[in-house]
Amino acid sequence: MAETISITDVSPRDGLQNQAVHLSTEDKLELIARLVAAGVNSVEATSFVSPKAVPQMADAGELVPRISARFPQLRTSVLVPNLKGLERAHAAGAQEVAVVLSATETMNRKNINMGLDEATEVSAQTVLAAHDKGLRTRAYVAVAFECPFEGKTPLAEVVRLATRMHATGAGEIVIADTIGAASPQKVRALFAALRDVVPMDRLAVHLHDTRGLGAANAWAALEAGVRRFDASVGGIGGCPFAPGAAGNLATEDLVLMAETSGFTTGLSLDALLDAVDFAEQQLRRPLGGRSSAWLRRQRDKRLAAELQPA
Ligand code: HMG
Ligand code: MG
Repeated sequence: MAETISITDVSPRDGLQNQAVHLSTEDKLELIARLVAAGVNSVEATSFVSPKAVPQMADAGELVPRISARFPQLRTSVLVPNLKGLERAHAAGAQEVAVVLSATETMNRKNINMGLDEATEVSAQTVLAAHDKGLRTRAYVAVAFECPFEGKTPLAEVVRLATRMHATGAGEIVIADTIGAASPQKVRALFAALRDVVPMDRLAVHLHDTRGLGAANAWAALEAGVRRFDASVGGIGGCPFAPGAAGNLATEDLVLMAETSGFTTGLSLDALLDAVDFAEQQLRRPLGGRSSAWLRRQRDKRLAAELQPA
């Protein structure tokens, strides 16, 4: 029987946080509806960060209760950088939060205005406080391969921070290639080291596709035993505080790669394309992962065949 991989679609958060066009709460809900229709059962919906820093996420307090009401079965995580973010997320009824710790001093300063040690402590405190409130947690370790400010990230540093977040009890440790600088060999080496300190089923990978290696890196992670992936429809995304960060690995690319390699995802490629189409209309520019043009041609051929007279 095919082995299942789980996908958290981060389109509404990572995908929209850096866009020139700001989606309304209603349109974010519509995007999430398309994801759910495609079989997505886990999303990262928004972030409770400073609206001055990321105005695209300013409606988080309104969005979360509307998601809970409309999609009660959907696993919904929200990003929180500190205790204030956690308080806001909890007040909005969030059930799961993600903290974001970067593996270098400068990236933490640029992203959340803390040094590495403070970011580590604040992330740990936020995870513990979330557990006290009965919430589930994820902990990102960002710039896990390369930092846009400090260059290559030492593997031992990523292992140290992942170990710390695991010891704190974070439910999922999300290894993030913020600027898409990983290679399959580096992914293999990092997860080979991580599996000695964090159980494999607690590890996830969050890949950006800056250099076209997103799917190859996801394959290396699969071979290393990772079964939890982040991705975004159409490959939208990027961190506003990490220069050179392109979009995430596209959900449709990940699904195509996994489904044609003996894994099941529970997601429908045709329905995912509807979500890509919707995001494209909203953001008013062409979108799509590496496979989207081909996938669209297959969809068009199928539709044309269905329209043929019998
Ligand atoms: P700061 O200025 O150092 O915060 O910002 P502060 O504690 O000095 O407070 C300043 C003001 O912000 C105060 O308000 C606080 O109340 C408020 P004022 O008194 O001036 O009116 N404040 C907040 N407001 C709303 N929500 C909060 C919050 N905290 C303080 N949670 C802060 C620190 C972290 C807030 C800021 O730097 C920030 O919001 N940064 C945004 C970070 C972000 O969203 N980055 C993108 C997401 S991470 C990412 O994309 C990477 C990832 O995808 C993985 C990967 O690919 O690597 C996850
Ligand atoms: Mg990201």
